[in-house]
Amino acid sequence: MNVGLKTSILPAGEAAVAKAARLLAGGGLVAFPTETVYGLGADATNAAAIARLYQAKGRPAFNPLIAHVGDLAAARRIARFDTAAMALAEAFWPGPLTLVLPKTKDCPVADLATAGLETVAIRVPSHPVARQILRAFGGPVVAPSANLSGHVSPTTAAHVQSDLAGRIDLIVDGGPVEVGVESSIVGCLEVPMLLRPGGLPRGEIERVLGRPLAQPPEDAGSDGGQPLAPGMLASHYAPRTRVRLDAVRVEPGEALLAFGPDAIAGVDAGTSVMNLSERGDLGEAAARLFGYLRALDARGARAIVVMPVPHHGLGEAINDRLRRAAVERD
Ligand code: TXA
Ligand code: MG
Repeated sequence: MNVGLKTSILPAGEAAVAKAARLLAGGGLVAFPTETVYGLGADATNAAAIARLYQAKGRPAFNPLIAHVGDLAAARRIARFDTAAMALAEAFWPGPLTLVLPKTKDCPVADLATAGLETVAIRVPSHPVARQILRAFGGPVVAPSANLSGHVSPTTAAHVQSDLAGRIDLIVDGGPVEVGVESSIVGCLEVPMLLRPGGLPRGEIERVLGRPLAQPPEDAGSDGGQPLAPGMLASHYAPRTRVRLDAVRVEPGEALLAFGPDAIAGVDAGTSVMNLSERGDLGEAAARLFGYLRALDARGARAIVVMPVPHHGLGEAINDRLRRAAVERD
């Protein structure tokens, strides 16, 4: 285990970017902000660095990683784009969209990062700090969310620190992220398919494609077989406290994750309440979701109960993450 490393934390800026690029080139692990969530970066061509990354996260090695690159030209050296993939890349990159595509013949991404699949996930992030690091490093960087495997994704440098201090080399602090949920993942293999709802709403993707996205088969995220989106294991993004959805009342000792202006039965002076968005704004709710789950998880409540969140726009990704947080675990 690489526990016991000294993890430096630097504010975003020239010095931090230069150090990040140097560490990545030497096989190191660097956490940095993207517009969606903080990522934990490693050189995508360096299998030893990727092995350390899986180890630092405690991530099962069958769960492949997203390669982050600076632009479409760099992406085309890694993967083959069909017409739909080109249209999506041109419309939404840089931004919170990941494409799963067939690898090129001389794809430089290490097999360990793609878990032996013939496909690779790629994204061009829009966060200025992520872009500076990619430019300074000059190659593809694999970056899963910078949390311990199975835990809630980090939206601040402090979240990264609480999960990964002592396990990684550097955290670049660029302040809280803007979007707050991970990128939407679209597979462009036979027909464009939404593998993970995320920071880019389905409706915007479908508008560019001119047709509805295909749905992955029901069992795509199960533990058995060859899942289409291997990371979509049912229990994921999970706080330690039990989570109950669609709450209509709060029982004594429970903490409330509220949404919107309405009150709910059972709330009293002793209840911990955090409201994702008093004015019912889904963008604000997405940006706060993981931070509020972490904060409520730390209160030692009997359960975190969650008020219903509408399903349109970013609500699809929010409800997806909440559903995973609520799956019963051992
Ligand atoms: O917003 C994001 O996407 C963040 C930031 C850091 O970029 N990253 C992120 O990575 O969420 P991660 O590793 O937590 O999630 C990547 C997902 C996993 O569910 C993984 O199974 C899926 O992408 N994935 C990666 N390669 C794939 C492939 N070839 N086919 C299908 N799914 C793939
Ligand atoms: Mg993750």
